[in-house]
Amino acid sequence: MGRHALRARIESERFDLVPLNVWQTFRLTYPWTRDAEFIASFSGSGAPRSPRKWYREMIRPNNKTRFVHGIVPRGESAPIGVHSMSIYGYRSCRLGIGIQDRSWWGKGVVQEVRTRLIDHVFEHSDVERLHAQVVGRNLPSVFNYQKLGFAHVGTMHRSKFDPVTGQVHDMLIFEIFRDEWMKRKAERRG
Ligand SMILES: CC(C)(COP(=O)(O)OP(=O)(O)OC[C@H]1O[C@@H](n2cnc3c(N)ncnc32)[C@H](O)[C@@H]1OP(=O)(O)O)[C@@H](O)C(=O)NCCC(=O)NCCS
Repeated sequence: MGRHALRARIESERFDLVPLNVWQTFRLTYPWTRDAEFIASFSGSGAPRSPRKWYREMIRPNNKTRFVHGIVPRGESAPIGVHSMSIYGYRSCRLGIGIQDRSWWGKGVVQEVRTRLIDHVFEHSDVERLHAQVVGRNLPSVFNYQKLGFAHVGTMHRSKFDPVTGQVHDMLIFEIFRDEWMKRKAERRG
């Protein structure tokens, strides 16, 4: 048990989950901010960012409480997306994920990567609660959280404005607790 294990390279069935430092995260994800559709789903706003603005906004891994993993298909070198984990508050960890390479959408990447990383977090930390915020219209993300067993526990109504589309979004809060995850895992094993 030890959080240092959260900055390890982790393997799932099809992917290497490669820990990134802050500059690797920036270099990888800044170009993705030009993909307005992607970044709007990811963050709620498709507005263009300056490098400085994105640096301040992105999850900046410190490999103690904030971790970012590049999602690399086995045998390849370029990440198709990133997964983030931020530990703060009482035994809580906030999750985020984005698959920027659209050729991988609809192929179960989120389910596979998340299942592996959630197991890893619970195994190697005292975190009891995982949570995430999702743009209400982001149906793939909503379905993914529900499929993993997260509960929708609240809505921050009209809390996000996308200056590009002029749309105002509700943000949905999802969470799951360690005991709930373990129970589902035991049930899956039969
Ligand atoms: C969110 C994201 C990671 C999902 O990728 P994905 O898991 O490959 O998404 P999928 O296309 O498989 O969709 C997930 C599920 O939602 C369902 N779904 C997708 N769009 C839907 C729609 N419009 N209506 C109903 N169901 C929908 C899919 O059928 C799928 O369910 P299934 O597994 O039972 O088939 C990817 O779209 C992405 O990176 N988006 C941009 C960044 C982002 O939004 N990140 C999340 C921030 S919280």
